[in-house]
Amino acid sequence: MMQTKRTIIISNRLPIRIERQHGELHVIPSEGGLATGLGSIYQDEGNVWIGWPGFVPENEQEKESVTAQLASLNLIPVFLTASELEGYYEGFSNEVLWPICHYHPSYTVYDPANWEIYQSVNEKFAQKVKDQDLLDSDDVWIHDYQLMLLPKLIRAHNINLAIGYFQHIPFPPDELFRAIPWRDELLEGLLGADLIAFHTYHDTQHFLNACSHILGIAIQNNSLRKAGRSIYVEVFPMGIDYEKFSGLAQSAAVQQRADEIRTFYNHRKFILSIDRLDYSKGILERLKAFESLLQHYPELYSQVVLYMLVVPSRDTVPKYSELRDEINRVVGHINAVYGTNEWTPISYFYNTYCVEELSALYVAADICLVTSLRDGMNLVCKEFIASKENNDGVLILSEMAGASRELIGPILVNPNAIEQIREAIRTAIVMPVEEQRKRLNDSLEIVKKFNVRHWVHIFFKRLKEIKALQKQEL
Ligand code: G6P
Repeated sequence: MMQTKRTIIISNRLPIRIERQHGELHVIPSEGGLATGLGSIYQDEGNVWIGWPGFVPENEQEKESVTAQLASLNLIPVFLTASELEGYYEGFSNEVLWPICHYHPSYTVYDPANWEIYQSVNEKFAQKVKDQDLLDSDDVWIHDYQLMLLPKLIRAHNINLAIGYFQHIPFPPDELFRAIPWRDELLEGLLGADLIAFHTYHDTQHFLNACSHILGIAIQNNSLRKAGRSIYVEVFPMGIDYEKFSGLAQSAAVQQRADEIRTFYNHRKFILSIDRLDYSKGILERLKAFESLLQHYPELYSQVVLYMLVVPSRDTVPKYSELRDEINRVVGHINAVYGTNEWTPISYFYNTYCVEELSALYVAADICLVTSLRDGMNLVCKEFIASKENNDGVLILSEMAGASRELIGPILVNPNAIEQIREAIRTAIVMPVEEQRKRLNDSLEIVKKFNVRHWVHIFFKRLKEIKALQKQEL
């Protein structure tokens, strides 16, 4: 019997996480865009998604029962020990690759022991792929910086396989990447793929420059040759599940919840900020800009509220816990200095919300404020836009976020220019409704058309074309 073509998705996290509640293990589905976009792919018969299930099993029996449960969902878990997580995830991925790729070289911690563990965990993932007995006609799509070595490891086992790699975070200028003691191995690892993709043109150029200047490989437009194979480096800006956010925003339940939120905040101008806890998001800069707004425009006292949701993330990494403490301090300071009995300038939450609540916040918001110092794409701003069909609102967006290269209509700001953010907020507060709608509609068309399903579709289409081009070269 002829076996049909299979597709294997691999990412650090599976599109679910296992949670231990009262001693029992539960499978919690992810709300993330990647899970939605790839849902129609990995759930097809024969296809699988390989990744970490988000928990550390206590014994073999737990591993077996989780493996069996996930198999029925086409998911294959890679179990990691606490020390593997410390070295590979916290140590190397998030204390070397994350800060370098987000232009924060001073936040790196170069520990050779963590590099060893990063390599061995990538090999562990590669072994799971090998266990699948893939054919040359199959597709593999690897996601993100935690698995930079994986393309080469898989290629070594199956030379003709179609391998795609997408990096969800920026790729930094080559001179920043050069700082990593193991930069050659990381670049070589990626070059195991046939298609290496990023959100923006700049990321692709930085990567190609790194291949040229660090590895000495000749570049031709957007491709290079390695071991007789052409490798393509291309731009694929990721989209969101437009239908989901637009549909939720127009549902009666969300509309009602949005009304409740507006009423609770006395119909003040509602400025929304939502991020994972991360120093790349410019949260402190945003707070400074908000304080500056209050200082410069005292007439706005009691007229505005900054609703700031920070989603807990990586708080076992020291830079993250330090940031969390600093945010607490600055929010406390602003509320103490400017607040009154009737008005608290900042409503701050350090929590995880369900998508319905996020949707209600997007609907309720007058302004969405995104001030990332660096961001691969930033999907929050696209979710805000999708939630504003037939509505008004203003998006203030950092020019350092990938989305700024794609969306037409937001007020763009340099997140390091605090006064510029302050003035952008002020402009947004007084912007006529017709202008708000015009700007939103311009962005909306892009968010709607280039949604996450489209992104998945064109990535696989391109991977197929590249395999055909490679065959012609032989
Ligand atoms: C970014 C990265 C993802 C990562 C996510 C959450 O979006 O690009 O690879 O999964 O952050 O971070 P975490 O460390 O919790 O997986």
